Amino acid sequence: MTAEPTQTQEAAEKAADSNTNRRQPFPQGFLDTISTGWADRPDTLPAAREQAPFTARRRAAVSAAFAGRRLVVPAGGFKQRSNDTDYPFRPHSAFAHLTGWASDAVADSLLVFDPTDDGHDVTLYLRDRATRETEEFYRDATIGEFWVGPRPSLAAVAADLGVATEHLERFEAGEDDLVVEEDDELTTFVSELRLIKDDYEIAQMQLAVDTTARGFDDIVRELPRIIDHPRGERVIEGVFHLRARSDGNWEGYDTIAAAGPHACYLHWTRNDGAVRPGDLVLIDAGVEVDSLYTADITRTLPVSGTFTPIQRRIYETVREAADAAFENARPGMSFRELHDTAMRVIAERTAEWGLLPVTPEEALDADRGGHQRRYMVHGTSHHLGLDVHDCAQARREMYYEGLVEPGMVFTIEPGLYFQEDDLTVPEEYRGIGVRIEDDILMTADGPVSLSAGIPRTADEIEAWIAQSR
Ligand code: GLY
Ligand code: MN
Ligand code: MN
Repeated sequence: MTAEPTQTQEAAEKAADSNTNRRQPFPQGFLDTISTGWADRPDTLPAAREQAPFTARRRAAVSAAFAGRRLVVPAGGFKQRSNDTDYPFRPHSAFAHLTGWASDAVADSLLVFDPTDDGHDVTLYLRDRATRETEEFYRDATIGEFWVGPRPSLAAVAADLGVATEHLERFEAGEDDLVVEEDDELTTFVSELRLIKDDYEIAQMQLAVDTTARGFDDIVRELPRIIDHPRGERVIEGVFHLRARSDGNWEGYDTIAAAGPHACYLHWTRNDGAVRPGDLVLIDAGVEVDSLYTADITRTLPVSGTFTPIQRRIYETVREAADAAFENARPGMSFRELHDTAMRVIAERTAEWGLLPVTPEEALDADRGGHQRRYMVHGTSHHLGLDVHDCAQARREMYYEGLVEPGMVFTIEPGLYFQEDDLTVPEEYRGIGVRIEDDILMTADGPVSLSAGIPRTADEIEAWIAQSR
């Protein structure tokens, strides 16, 4: 017995996208038989994932703040890299935060809050698994099962995330919908909702830091190979990438592997330079784990294993600034004060070395000073979480001018950077860049460094390299 044809060759060809110059035709025999002969799919449902109770509380907070309004939180879609090649899909952080659907989320999904008399009905709209009667599963190279693997069913996603699901085709946009990234008030709210991390998030941040620590160990172990290669910075990036992909989802941001004077470029991600004995190499890298929380760690290593006296002096000054910020950190302080504490050390030491044309006090004057910032133009701290620069749409009074509270996770990352061509510093300083970056959890009892286990003092760094040889 032959199956009824489910579609004609003509219709199938018409549905093909514009890129037909290399496409194999689907002859009638294929079309007549492709929908049949498949086993039933198992319909066992997964248990709810660990973060489901946490995401339910986050959705309740959103619902309470926007009574009577219809809200849409898009996962986002594929972004083209070139021609028919996309960047790997990564859902929007607000979507991941409110659904718990992270590295395994399906592109183009929408989390929708429909207002009711006493709150909202929340529904996750996603593209349902294509049946064998459609042509999607064998023809669509972007989302088809034969090409990228199957999507989960609506029922499986509902059970997994603890949220009602619906087919994406049933979604209808409303004129008054508030949409994340389109409506400022909602976008700010979901960003500020992430300022304080819950217990699940704190555990994931620790996991991200611990995985990142293994990536740094890998780099230290591979130093001989890194030195041998003409583009040793790329080898650093690659070694870390292997750890990020094998143990996590990806890097939370492009790895900075900056040797010698490249370290003075704050976000050097070209990473195409050599790593030479005698130089320092600054490595700023963070693993994003499968839940999409990321670490953000910087260590600066002496490539030959020991710091020269001038490298050590600069390195230990940066550490002094970082330690001062950490020791001064406490709940209730302003975020700005963290930066000011580190800056005071930077101003005092650079003045002591004769680099500033003014006294440290004058340099620290908020309006007329800032001379020391020539050597550290960036801030000391930022929030960290699902995004490396987390809570980016929070209001300034909730962030830079806001107060540090228990449950916040942020970086402390002072640095000193003396450009190769900076005539204001003695020659021995030129071309040296140092940053030390740690990930800090504030608790009611004070700060806890999530990255305390990664060697940090000049002596510890030298011992780390010596031990791995
Ligand atoms: N890795 C970027 C930053 O430290 O902010
Ligand atoms: Mn950072
Ligand atoms: Mn960083």
